[in-house]
Amino acid sequence: MSESSTDNIKTLPQGYRLAEYSIDSVLGKGAFGVTYQAHDNQLNRKVAIKEFFPAKSASRRDDGGVTVSEPKRAEFYRWGLDRFLTEAQVLAQFKHANIVRVNRFFSLNNTGYMVMDYEEGCTLGEIIQGEGPLTDEGRVRDLLDAVLAGLEEVHSKKYLHRDIKPGNVYMRDGRQPVLIDFGAARLDIGVEGHEKKLIFTPNYSPPEQASRGGIEGPWSDFYSLGATFYRCIFGEPPGNSRTRYNRLKETGQDPYQSAVIRGEGRYSDTLLEVLDWMLRLDWRRRPRSVGQIVNFLTHQIGGESGQPDQIPARSKKILLAGSRDLDLQKTLANLSGGAILGGVGKHGPLGLASTRVRDERWHLFRLPPAPNFRVVWPALSVAASGALLLINDAQTDPIGELRQMMRELWGIAPRLPLAIGVCNTEGSSEQSLARYWELLRSVEEGFEISAPLFTLAQSNPEHLGVLQEGLYTVLNPVTAA
Ligand SMILES: Nc1ncnc2c1ncn2[C@@H]1O[C@H](COP(=O)(O)OP(=O)(O)O)[C@@H](O)[C@H]1O
Ligand SMILES: [Mg+2]
Repeated sequence: MSESSTDNIKTLPQGYRLAEYSIDSVLGKGAFGVTYQAHDNQLNRKVAIKEFFPAKSASRRDDGGVTVSEPKRAEFYRWGLDRFLTEAQVLAQFKHANIVRVNRFFSLNNTGYMVMDYEEGCTLGEIIQGEGPLTDEGRVRDLLDAVLAGLEEVHSKKYLHRDIKPGNVYMRDGRQPVLIDFGAARLDIGVEGHEKKLIFTPNYSPPEQASRGGIEGPWSDFYSLGATFYRCIFGEPPGNSRTRYNRLKETGQDPYQSAVIRGEGRYSDTLLEVLDWMLRLDWRRRPRSVGQIVNFLTHQIGGESGQPDQIPARSKKILLAGSRDLDLQKTLANLSGGAILGGVGKHGPLGLASTRVRDERWHLFRLPPAPNFRVVWPALSVAASGALLLINDAQTDPIGELRQMMRELWGIAPRLPLAIGVCNTEGSSEQSLARYWELLRSVEEGFEISAPLFTLAQSNPEHLGVLQEGLYTVLNPVTAA
């Protein structure tokens, strides 16, 4: 939202009594809320209070109360308020020097208020505006390390910030960066598609936040982080990722000006390379985790997705299917080290994850269980290289179900390479494995089963690793041998 469209927002006046707080001033007005500086009259200290106030849907009465501007926006308002509370709950979990501290949430005036520690200082954006580009590499590195530390905490709880930019990095006492404004934060598992379009900050958001079909993950925050630091050292952001994307598609040229070239001689190659790495348009070629970035910064060791000059891994699309009573989402998390993305398909939620298997990058697509799979599988199985099938051994007719699944799968993707995992909470037993072999061999209609079959405990990442290796071996008979 542009500055002018937030100009008219009617804010709470100075001196307004809000619970035990008195409003002192307005710190910021955004599309979804107003941030105030206030005084806690009981503890006698300054606080920052963020009020949920979606500019387009809310209006303020003279007594300070908030009403929905039009009846048809009521549902959106409720939904937004609910998310605002969720944001506060997310933030309240964090106790980290580089993440703003949220202490309290209360409902009043038909809206919600989030009370934060007040920090003396200003935003990183204001610092760059005042000082110009930061020329001292040591200072830039300290800043970057600190923001990364905060971000690592966020990602470790499976959240994304989703709106990192110079204006959302607050500089405590002008020195220590603190991540604020998690307006976009939410659990990245099981999201609904329509939430996505709310957040795209030109110049800082990655392309996958612009298109609904994009895949978001920690790498999306890294893009924004890269853009933020690019701005810090060059004085301007790297350009709108949507424009970059379109130009690349139309002309084959990404108009991005490489940090390595632009900053040559003024900053270390390591710092510049890490920016280029984070700012890749293709999310698959960005760092996957804070750990990878830190590793690169300290030891110049690239991560799985390759540092600047490495050849990217071959990508494969791998399907994950299984008995309906198995928690495949959890399996997906175990296979990918936890970074799952929710997606919404025509027939319900999908799980997507990415993992590295030897020299390959696998994009795992969790297929929905029956009864939708007949409709959904054909669409999802396009261009798949293989599938992992998991069968719950502890059900009445596991063999029957496995047979059924294979018939369905091969009906739409003939002879798609498979690896089969027989899930048994007790761990593996030779006996049950033999039973499967026996019965699989008798599958009729000329299904020749050459799929490796393993017994495993579904929640054991090591077991799942073996299953992956099994499929890898089928897909790469020569290299694997
Ligand atoms: N805890 C805080 N302490 C001091 N100032 C804050 C704090 N949180 C936010 N601010 C100030 O308020 C401004 C707006 O807050 P922010 O959470 O980014 O909301 P939005 O960008 O949606 O308006 C920030 O740019 C910052 O200057
Ligand atoms: Mg902000």
